[in-house]
Amino acid sequence: MVETMRWEQGSLVLLDQTLLPQKIEWITCVDYKRVKVAIERLEVRGAPAIGAAAAFAMVLGAREVADKPDFLGALDAVRADLITARPTAVNLAWAANLQYALAVRLNGEDKSPAAIIKALEEKAEQIYADDITMNKRMGEYGAAVLPDAAVVLTHCNAGALATCGWGTALGVIRSAYAQGKLKMVYADETRPLLQGARLTAFELFEDGIPVTLITDNMAAWTMRTKGVNAVVVGADRIAANGDTANKIGTYGVALAAKAHGIPFYIAAPTSTFDFSIATGAQIPIEERKANEVRHFRSEQTAPEGVAVFNPAFDVTPAELITGIITEHGVLKAPYTESIKKLQALLQD
Ligand code: MRU
Repeated sequence: MVETMRWEQGSLVLLDQTLLPQKIEWITCVDYKRVKVAIERLEVRGAPAIGAAAAFAMVLGAREVADKPDFLGALDAVRADLITARPTAVNLAWAANLQYALAVRLNGEDKSPAAIIKALEEKAEQIYADDITMNKRMGEYGAAVLPDAAVVLTHCNAGALATCGWGTALGVIRSAYAQGKLKMVYADETRPLLQGARLTAFELFEDGIPVTLITDNMAAWTMRTKGVNAVVVGADRIAANGDTANKIGTYGVALAAKAHGIPFYIAAPTSTFDFSIATGAQIPIEERKANEVRHFRSEQTAPEGVAVFNPAFDVTPAELITGIITEHGVLKAPYTESIKKLQALLQD
């Protein structure tokens, strides 16, 4: 299984996902700003992977400000700067805030900056390891709800590359494959940046999992003609009522699944839930540069200067979602209640 990042001798080494599948190149980040830039450029992307990268970036940032008289104030500035890298995936702020809260607590116990940095490093490594454990658990829960001879359609990349390993939606697919339950995965290519074609098809193909690549506008017809019997996608942020932000195009896939009577599942760890927002209307949607749509890499594919709308995510209303697969089981409607129970469980 492909590796997304590693912590090596005090630096964060990231696989440059913008170059896949043609090139395998690694980026060594020795300061937090380089991690922030990697998140902005999508060199590291996918909600859980961004969260883990942010946790390690906080270690780098803490090291950079260790000698400042106001160590905590300076670390808070690092946190505030880091979380502006991308707005939609809540895992970014979740991890950075968790690290900052740990620093505040240890500072209150009179720990030195060096001791705090060591604790932040251990916490980041734990976030990384826990992510893989949670994905495997989600995989088991998710595989159990898939039909035998599953023909699954997925959108974007919610795989090992979007996480610390195994994947969320692709984790479910991997577990189903391991159990002999998977017949085929249809992967949407995912315009404009082709995470489905470049990353999902790459990951599954490398691992020998049966995958067929389709363009985004083929999804409804594929559902109708190819026996698709489940859709599984990841998430960037889930509101308290179950409305879910994920890669642009997910909403259309959910509508098409509904029209064909196909179950539509979200797979996401609890770090992707934003219990503070009531509905998806409050999820900030990132809009990216027009040239991502007017060009394909360096090739111009539309008139220069034509107006472009380029939202990176959309919100699928909860009523289109059959179940939300988490590391604690599969949540069902009414989501306001099942999500409230999940929140209570996490607080215990
Ligand atoms: O813009 P990206 O590539 O970061 O978008 C990624 C997605 O939308 C994924 O589906 C989502 O983060 C879930 S990843 C397990």
